[in-house]
Amino acid sequence: MPDVKIMRVSIAADRCQGHNRCCLVAPELFEADDEGNAKARGDGIVAAGLEQKARLAVANCPEHAVRLTGA
Ligand code: F3S
Repeated sequence: MPDVKIMRVSIAADRCQGHNRCCLVAPELFEADDEGNAKARGDGIVAAGLEQKARLAVANCPEHAVRLTGA
């Protein structure tokens, strides 16, 4: 069996301050909620080809609120 890892993104709501850089660098993965804070789109699974954008979102959040698992 190949070792297939599923990457998933999420937002730590207690840290997010609504800078929205994650939405800018990876709009396929994040969207703003009604209060302007970010949330992961859908179930947060990072589709093939979006891994780099997911990492960019992690690196660009000044509050360290973007979580990436399975990387
Ligand atoms: Fe929030 Fe960071 Fe995005 S503060 S809106 S998770 S860039």
